[in-house]
Amino acid sequence: MTIIAIDGPAASGKSSVAKRLARRIGFFYVNSGSMYRAVTWELLRQGIDPSNPESVQSSIASMDLGCGFNAEGESFIRINAQIPDAELKESGVNNSVSTVSAIPAVRHLIVARLRALVNEHNVVMEGRDIGSAVFPDAPHKFYLDATPEIRRLRRAAEGLTDSIDLRDKQDSSRAEAPLQIAEGACVVDTSHLTLDGVVEKIFQLLTDAGLTPR
Ligand code: DC
Repeated sequence: MTIIAIDGPAASGKSSVAKRLARRIGFFYVNSGSMYRAVTWELLRQGIDPSNPESVQSSIASMDLGCGFNAEGESFIRINAQIPDAELKESGVNNSVSTVSAIPAVRHLIVARLRALVNEHNVVMEGRDIGSAVFPDAPHKFYLDATPEIRRLRRAAEGLTDSIDLRDKQDSSRAEAPLQIAEGACVVDTSHLTLDGVVEKIFQLLTDAGLTPR
């Protein structure tokens, strides 16, 4: 199976780019951030304090977490028999997801699911640690970035409340699998590129590297 890893900070364009790229080359698409968001959403729903690792750990021990692909080839997560979608972008989730995802037990749970997902599929997977920790041997790795000003503007344009500076700080400074440029990753600055421009650039790089779209 071929894995294309796309990592980068919040609002760097990863999700839109990864989804569009996957469709263009006939790969499945995995949004790993949505899994951390789903666990966070469920913890908040249960009234668990996200900053208490012991409570989080005991709650996730009994969570029924499943994931798979929908008819469009995009990943979904089912958590305790629910499939959250728009809820994952709520400000409560935005505010707590970095705290939750820094807890090693949460990471172990999700990384195991992510690795199992690629068993039968070629995938474009986006996140923070895909090229550095989840699939360090992925043949194609990209790190998308953009200036903080532009990333803030992009989030505001989506009408979402999201402290991206704080999340980036927490995601980059955590002990386990922090956000970083993976060894061998190609850095793409998306600040002054359109969505199609970024997809085209990555597509060209993949083609140059010998990947033939199906
Ligand atoms: O991609 P996103 O903004 O939806 O991700 C939400 C949070 O999930 C992000 O701030 C940190 C965490 N995350 C992670 O720790 N590792 C990943 N591979 C993906 C996301």
